Amino acid sequence: MDQASTLRRLVNKDPNAGQARPKQKKKRRVRVISITSGKGGVGKTNVTINLAYALSLLGRRVFILDADLGLANIDVLLNISPPFNIEHVLSGEKSINEIIVEGPANIKILPASSGLSELAELDRDEQVKLFRKLGEIDQTMDYLFVDTGAGIASNVLRFNATADEIMLIATPEPTSMTDAYSVIKILATKYHVRKFNLITNAVESQKEALAVYDRLNKVVYDFLQIKLNYTGFVYKDPMLTKAVRMQKPLLEVYPKSPAGKCFSVLARKLDQNAGMLPILDLDEPQTGFWDRLMHWKRKR
Ligand SMILES: Nc1ncnc2c1ncn2[C@@H]1O[C@H](COP(=O)(O)OP(=O)(O)OP(=O)(O)O)[C@@H](O)[C@H]1O
Ligand SMILES: [Mg+2]
Repeated sequence: MDQASTLRRLVNKDPNAGQARPKQKKKRRVRVISITSGKGGVGKTNVTINLAYALSLLGRRVFILDADLGLANIDVLLNISPPFNIEHVLSGEKSINEIIVEGPANIKILPASSGLSELAELDRDEQVKLFRKLGEIDQTMDYLFVDTGAGIASNVLRFNATADEIMLIATPEPTSMTDAYSVIKILATKYHVRKFNLITNAVESQKEALAVYDRLNKVVYDFLQIKLNYTGFVYKDPMLTKAVRMQKPLLEVYPKSPAGKCFSVLARKLDQNAGMLPILDLDEPQTGFWDRLMHWKRKR
């Protein structure tokens, strides 16, 4: 079957797919979770900010790496303007701690800008120096959320292939699902990633959320033999749009809104190590995220 018929099949309802079972995950020092999507504008930055906010309220130390190297998002949605970014660390002008900006509820923002895309050009000594510094802040965090750009640009794939867990965001829009399939396909076929966690955003009901999961899961299973993990859903909620206009996390201004409650439920689930599949086998000895990012090689 060609790609076009795959995509046609994806947007036609198919209620037959089963649900993935949540799996318990061992406790780790820092969990690096990339938040990604095929299509842009499906809610990645809002999911990132609100999960970070909720986990922070639970007493976790949360960092966000704004890794949308084209269009920085986090600063706009939180109304902060980081004066420095990783480029200043690379140039030696600032230390890592000097570029970190504090957001609401003590969330720490690590502004990346285009600095991280220049990693490939750093010589080995410079890379080692930078990643040693980044490794030091690992000890000060429980979660690192990586808010990536949408799509299959090489830096997006790089963050996804090196994170501990991938959280894919899709909405009920057909193009969001077909583009999500494209991301999964390229990560699976070129980068051997086989664990994906799905959050369906902007849904009218839980039934609609499960239908989105079922349709995507069915096609992913048929063509790639991968079973998607259903992590949860977020309601379509006009209060979220209001919060965006106020440049505040929804959970700060409307915690009891329908989408706000979904974020709180998801954060608790995440923190109990439920509902998420790690990419890597956690029984194997691991290098840290920054090492993996540094030594990342494009696989063909
Ligand atoms: N659950 C929701 N309910 C209502 N509107 C939503 C919801 N989620 C997202 N939106 C709308 O979609 C817009 C885009 O959201 P967001 O910026 O989080 O997406 P994104 O995936 O990060 O976008 P980009 O790809 O441009 O980085 C929001 O400003 C909001 O208006
Ligand atoms: Mg965004």
